[in-house]
Amino acid sequence: MCGIFAYLNYMTPKTRREVLEYLVTGLKRLEYRGYDSAGVAIDNVDSKGILLIKQTGKVKVLEDAIREQMVDHDLETPMTTHCGISHTRWATHGVPSDLNSHPQRSDIDNTFVVVHNGIITNYKDVKTFLEKRGYVFESDTDTEIIAKLIHHLYMQRPSVSFRELVEQVIQQLEGAFALAFKSKYFPGECVATRRGSPLLVGIKTKTRLATDHIPILYGKDEDNKKEHRPHGHRDVPLLPRTDSTSEFQPLEDKEVEYFFASDASAVIEHTNRVIYLEDDDVAAVKDGALSIHRLKKTMEDALAREITTLKMEIQQIMKGNYEYFMQKEIFEQPESVINTMRGRVNFVNQTVTLGGIKEYIPEIKRCRRLMLIGCGTSYHSAVATRQLLEELTELPVMVELASDFLDRNTPIFRDDVCFFISQSGETADTLMALRYCKQRGALIVGITNTVGSSICRESHCGVHINAGPEIGVASTKAYTSQFISLVMFGLVMSEDRISLQSRRKEILMGLTQLDKQIKEVLQLDEKVLEIAKGLFEKKSLLIMGRGYNFATCMEGALKVKELTYMHCEGIMAGELKHGPLALVDDLMPIVMIVMRDGVYNKTINAIQQVKARGGLPIVICEQGDKETEQFASKILEVPKTVDCLQGILTVIPMQLLSYHIAVLRGCNVDCPRNLAKSVTVE
Ligand code: UD1
Ligand code: GLU
Ligand code: MG
Repeated sequence: MCGIFAYLNYMTPKTRREVLEYLVTGLKRLEYRGYDSAGVAIDNVDSKGILLIKQTGKVKVLEDAIREQMVDHDLETPMTTHCGISHTRWATHGVPSDLNSHPQRSDIDNTFVVVHNGIITNYKDVKTFLEKRGYVFESDTDTEIIAKLIHHLYMQRPSVSFRELVEQVIQQLEGAFALAFKSKYFPGECVATRRGSPLLVGIKTKTRLATDHIPILYGKDEDNKKEHRPHGHRDVPLLPRTDSTSEFQPLEDKEVEYFFASDASAVIEHTNRVIYLEDDDVAAVKDGALSIHRLKKTMEDALAREITTLKMEIQQIMKGNYEYFMQKEIFEQPESVINTMRGRVNFVNQTVTLGGIKEYIPEIKRCRRLMLIGCGTSYHSAVATRQLLEELTELPVMVELASDFLDRNTPIFRDDVCFFISQSGETADTLMALRYCKQRGALIVGITNTVGSSICRESHCGVHINAGPEIGVASTKAYTSQFISLVMFGLVMSEDRISLQSRRKEILMGLTQLDKQIKEVLQLDEKVLEIAKGLFEKKSLLIMGRGYNFATCMEGALKVKELTYMHCEGIMAGELKHGPLALVDDLMPIVMIVMRDGVYNKTINAIQQVKARGGLPIVICEQGDKETEQFASKILEVPKTVDCLQGILTVIPMQLLSYHIAVLRGCNVDCPRNLAKSVTVE
């Protein structure tokens, strides 16, 4: 989920100092993506081995460690050809630690080393397989199985090429990955591949490139056999399998440098010629030539990968096509919701496994009540899922703001189960509430996005939401992932309730559709911008809804407040006539969320009250709901999903709306005034 940078120089002599500088600078360019540790691998001096330097913390810390550990090494002798790989890690498996940092290795001799972004969901099976064959694991990462698996495959057939080994490895992997490999058996070679996580190759040559395309080579194992070199005869030239033009060879001179990186910000200072790899492409550099391989050819496959010329500034690349991190994170939600469910929701068997709380489920089922505790957006994710949790667990569910919960000295008992929800896992109020409950003997469950955070460490068990690092101060993708994590918990709790099976099925079905539906909602962007143009000069905005969508009103209002500094209130539609209706007139901007769920008639009632006072509501409703549209001054239609998941789809237009209003008002979207990303003071 974070950063990969690899650098290979061919016939372009570079000293170890230069190579390390390139790697560290590459990592620094990727720092904005968020990470918790970093590491590099380069060739060892004199011997044939590989040197690993890995460190928890910032790239700066790694840089210092490199300086320290390299004092006795030759940093100045140029190496004609060399491959170095490096990584910034955002832990998903195992806490941030030096040992868990990447590169991960196959054995103590560092025979194969690998850097990985993403999550391998079947790592336990592969690990068991390898342990039976004598491999001893040193880290808690999923990644380590990749390094050991490639070693195992190499030992089976040492004559196979590096690229083919990687092809065999990825056939065994499930989940998401971008990978770069280095091996002492294949000096001067680098193999990289991806599935689901981004990766590109940058090419730098002295002369103009002879081609704009690199043809893709296809092959099954059978075809590839021809290419195998006899064991122990490494200098025997390869039998060409396909004509040599299918590799990228720099014209005239053979000098060339290659860069593998998660995004272009890390390579743009070296070259503007890049190839964006597609899922399951295996890119290999050998003898200075780059080739791109795919195992199987399908109808839609392109014949070649284009070498694109980047014309962007670094600033621009970092945020992709987005202006702000928050905007990028809003648009990342189709992927982040999948990452939250990855390896947990089995759509085929209709089962949900939360590894982090599995053993505690029997105890949780015996509890007196569930308490969901958080602050701000995290609190809203609890509000959003409370009704469903009550339904699926048949337990009383209390939802609490951490600060208020502490102010009240709320009674807590040994048979309470308390959930603490926090993106960073460091939120001071939430952490104090956690300690308060722990002291009183309750079972403590964490819901966090940050492996190794305080809440994660101090909780008895928990769920990592795996949304990836969130940089924008205003939380967006963490909210939808917290929401889904709590829904998954409900599904686990109701697994053996016969009466709830059809409900569970319906929800699971909703979860499968979610990424596609989120993409549809994101297409409303232009329309939301138009609406924002009509709102950004107003003083105030009211957001109304009820039932499953009340949380969206509160979360939407929070987004507007924190980003635009405009007054905004989330109003429970059922409360209208108890006060807020007095605010309504033809000048007051109002957004109403009207879904065709159990409270539809009541919400229509509310909208009629608003209309009767001259109000002109902007309505978020289901696609094709003609009846509701009649009441709207403007409408935003979102796809229909199960009632209890609808809040995920209705919150996104509100995220977009607050974003656009903030931009129109000239506010600093990623760093709103007076606010910090992680609130570590009470
Ligand atoms: C683990 C991997 C996960 C992988 C899955 C597949 C880790 C950190 N996670 O996830 O990436 O997809 O196996 O088998 O290795 N915990 C707390 N408090 C919290 C959050 C988590 O104590 O706030 C604990 C959990 O109880 C668990 C561990 O941290 O012991 C990992 O949690 P989580 O990542 O959610 O567990 P899995 O889903 O099993
Ligand atoms: N899943 C891997 C780990 O936890 C890679 C994380 C990343 O993408 O940085 O080590
Ligand atoms: Mg814990």
